[in-house]
Amino acid sequence: MSEPVEQLFSDPSELNLDPLWMPFTHNRYFKKHPRLVVEAKGVHYTTDDGRQLIDALSGLWCCNAGHRHPKIVEAIKAQLDALDYAVGFQAHHPKAFELADLLCDRAPAPFKHAFFTNSGSEACDTALKIALAYHKARGDGSRFRLIGREKGYHGVGFGGMSVGGMMPNRKAFASAMIPGVDHLPHTHSLEHMAYTRGQPEWGVHLAEDLARIVALHDASTIAAVMIEPMQGSGGVIVPPVGYLERIREICTQNGILLIFDEVITGFGRLGEIFSPDRFGVMPDLITFAKGITSGMVPLGGVLATADIYDAFMQGPEHMVEFFHGYTYSGHPLATAAGIAAIDVYESEDMFARARAMEPILEDAVHSLRGEPNVVDIRNCGLAAAIELAPRDGLPSKRAMDVFHWCYDNGVMVRYGGDVIAIGPPLTISEAQIEVIVDTIREALHATS
Ligand SMILES: Cc1ncc(COP(=O)(O)O)c(C=O)c1O
Repeated sequence: MSEPVEQLFSDPSELNLDPLWMPFTHNRYFKKHPRLVVEAKGVHYTTDDGRQLIDALSGLWCCNAGHRHPKIVEAIKAQLDALDYAVGFQAHHPKAFELADLLCDRAPAPFKHAFFTNSGSEACDTALKIALAYHKARGDGSRFRLIGREKGYHGVGFGGMSVGGMMPNRKAFASAMIPGVDHLPHTHSLEHMAYTRGQPEWGVHLAEDLARIVALHDASTIAAVMIEPMQGSGGVIVPPVGYLERIREICTQNGILLIFDEVITGFGRLGEIFSPDRFGVMPDLITFAKGITSGMVPLGGVLATADIYDAFMQGPEHMVEFFHGYTYSGHPLATAAGIAAIDVYESEDMFARARAMEPILEDAVHSLRGEPNVVDIRNCGLAAAIELAPRDGLPSKRAMDVFHWCYDNGVMVRYGGDVIAIGPPLTISEAQIEVIVDTIREALHATS
């Protein structure tokens, strides 16, 4: 007979690690060298062996208000005491409307409607579907192509994967890519922009590739361009000066919708709620997730302009206008967390705090220039990347070694390829930034 459930929750060191198939993880390696956190508060994790780690990546770019902020915790608990779940199709609950209203009020002016999903991946696929259906609703159904960008990450659904530009996420699924997708070149160049602080001066010409793609396929076949205003998972690749402006211009000239995937860049990462307030370039659709609840309950979504929403509002009123949605779209716990998180960001002035900490983070990370194997450092908002020369024949191993060394010595960073990424909670202090960067410095020496 199976053991009663409560007896399965034992000492973490006695856990059976085998049954869990971990996402985006080297499962065999991990299970030989497990790393478990059991608590979190503010900017710290506590590990299963009782050590404190500074969380230098806000969870996975999501805990922007820090971990377990009491106001958000309270809001979730209160919601749970009142309403656990409410259907969202043809009936709903007040908090979903309240959060949509709040978001549209705080978002850049053109955004008047919010569609909720549970994750960034679903937000991206939803935005792509909105773009396709929008053109069809306006009698422009020949627009089916979707344009992404190399190194782009738009989650793991079939749409986001196809529009995304990361080879390892694509190669096993080549036969299942959605048709008609093309890619812009990425904008990173070690030769032309290594050690840039903020937006690089080089690279605006790369936006002209969109004009080339339009000339190749004809605008009448292209529905949307989806890009991250600043690429996050691809390694904190900051848009060159003038680049986003030129992409916007070409989209507008050709009737192509511009989708900004702001799953990482939203909610303070760039010191504002969304990137138009930072870079001054307005998309037609914005995807969001992660920071909307400070990572506490899964929630994502898409913000749409009135023009896009209105295009769907046709036909008999009793008919569904957009055949799309999720069982948990606008879940009570998630929307309660979202409302509370926005309240926390505002009442504690966290986006202003992020802006104030940006130059401190910038100076700190750039002090790593010249340390062993560092080939580039880049930063924007409260995000930074330190790129390392790969070990011979072992891509990503050097960054992994740095990650492990940091974990063993009090700091949780993230690596992807040979890039170490930093994106601390907006509440991080100057002293904590110093600890993060000094730990990375020691790690670079210890693992060189
Ligand atoms: C820009 C961007 N879009 C989409 C996603 C996917 O989000 P999720 O993991 O919540 O599906 C991510 C995740 O990191 C992301 O960075």
